Amino acid sequence: MKFFVDTADTAEIRDLSETGLLDGVTTNPSLVKKSGRDFFEVIREIAALVPGPVSAETVATDHETMLAEGRKLAKLADNIAVKVPLTVDGLKTCKALTAEGVMVNVTLCFSATQALLAAKAGATFVSPFVGRLDDISSDGMELIADIKTIFGHYDFTTEILVASVRHPVHVLEAARIGADVATVPPQILRKLFQHPLTDRGLEAFLRDWRETGQSIL
Ligand code: E4P
Repeated sequence: MKFFVDTADTAEIRDLSETGLLDGVTTNPSLVKKSGRDFFEVIREIAALVPGPVSAETVATDHETMLAEGRKLAKLADNIAVKVPLTVDGLKTCKALTAEGVMVNVTLCFSATQALLAAKAGATFVSPFVGRLDDISSDGMELIADIKTIFGHYDFTTEILVASVRHPVHVLEAARIGADVATVPPQILRKLFQHPLTDRGLEAFLRDWRETGQSIL
């Protein structure tokens, strides 16, 4: 499973990309607002930091304007995935941009039939929002499992990008289902590295090693 980080904070992205485990980045208008930075400047900077796909979201709601926005965003760097909403105009734009060879991430997906439409429109990624479904007492991960089953019946190339991840168990469940990608907020991505038994075990090994009086280098 690929790991994307869900942020527009370039310091976080730089730090996490140094692990060599970061496969891409997703942003959205709210994350850009949170960064307090110029949209184009921040997207260019992120695209230079990671080789993988960097999602940059359109904000128009009509097809013509969304297409123009998408084309402009795609020109910012070779690794831009244009994000469009899961609406009729969004899917029309997805189809047009895909035909032009642009990567497209169809966002704000909340049902399996919406995901099916995104795949038919040729999306590179479809982003079902699991946390926002959980928030309204729906089962977000059940949606991921449904989409995985449906896509398995056909030869779609659309990748399932699990979004709105709120905790490490969402990541665990996404991997169990076989989702292609999880986009994870930085603080949750960091939690995946941690285990108290790792810390305790390392501490004991290092203490015993010091007592041997030896060195490796
Ligand atoms: C995905 O691309 C979105 O940016 C993101 O995962 C939304 O998550 P939220 O529900 O925590 O805002």
